Amino acid sequence: MEPDKPDKPAIQPPEEKPVAGVSLIERVRGDVKEDIDLLKDKVSKENIKEEIENLKDPTRTQLYKSMFRVKHEPTPRSRSLGVLTNVFLHLHPAKINRDAVRFSYTWGMGGITFYLFIVLTFTGILLMFYYHPSKGQAYQDILYLENDVPFGKLLRNMHRWGAHLMVITTWLHMFRVVMTGSYKTPREFNWAVGVVLLVLTLLLSFTGYLLPDDQLGFWAVTVGTNMARATPMLGAEGPFGPQAGMTQYNDVRFGLLGGSIVDANALLRSYIWHCIAIPVIVSVLLAVHFWRVRKDGGISGPAPVMLESEMRSPGARAVKQSVK
Ligand code: HEM
Repeated sequence: MEPDKPDKPAIQPPEEKPVAGVSLIERVRGDVKEDIDLLKDKVSKENIKEEIENLKDPTRTQLYKSMFRVKHEPTPRSRSLGVLTNVFLHLHPAKINRDAVRFSYTWGMGGITFYLFIVLTFTGILLMFYYHPSKGQAYQDILYLENDVPFGKLLRNMHRWGAHLMVITTWLHMFRVVMTGSYKTPREFNWAVGVVLLVLTLLLSFTGYLLPDDQLGFWAVTVGTNMARATPMLGAEGPFGPQAGMTQYNDVRFGLLGGSIVDANALLRSYIWHCIAIPVIVSVLLAVHFWRVRKDGGISGPAPVMLESEMRSPGARAVKQSVK
């Protein structure tokens, strides 16, 4: 057996060599203290003074500078940069054509339609707190809302009238786009997105109509979905429908209603389309629609003014400019 060896530390601490009577640790301590004193002096005298001054003007604080990275000087460049570098402000263009945003040009109809969509989303979410999409309960919930819930009648009517208005304003917006020729190059794609938005707006209105489960809604949906029977290829009574194997138990009307009659399944399907699927699709398409307005060079704007004489001879304007 080997005799026990005493435990030795793997690394030996460096031996302190006294320099002119002062140990290394004492020297380091001295240096650190000196640095701290210097810092204290600097911080207390200059920085604190500056910080206090900055607090008087919030635009000079570090917090403000970290949020708004551009100086707010009243120059066009600084203003544009201020808008472009801010995540919220940059939703708006930094510069716009003054004539394009005239109320007389757009009628504000796109904006009003969007505003109504927001109001409808908000009131719709509140209505969901009181509504059950089941045959026994739906109409009872409407009566409860109308007669007993505080502001229930107002809430329901805001949603109902807002929906009617949105259909009207969407049409008017489309009409204005036609009248100002804003569907032309380069805005063809946004026009197409708009057409889908119009169809979805009408579908939102239609699916909402059944939800109170009253006579009005029941018959509107009965008539509406009966039309689907006549869809070519997809409806049991439509052209080439029977040849394509369509019956009233497997055609497009059956798919819309979840059955062959307007009943509980139709109510549930309307509810899901109305409250989830269509609003989500509309929200995505609205984002695309607004993004395209920006990318297509902003709202189109009225045509440049031309004198009557210039209109009569097309070359006159070019000649006039080349003479200048
Ligand atoms: C949910 C429905 C819709 C909303 C919320 C909406 C919203 C807007 C907004 C805010 C603008 C900016 C200019 C303005 O306010 O007039 C705009 C422009 C435009 N919208 Fe819509 N829109 C909708 C439906 C439609 C429909 C149905 C069409 C046509 C089929 C359409 C086609 C266009 C076009 C082409 C532009 C560009 C117009 C221009 O540059 O002058 N939109 N939309």
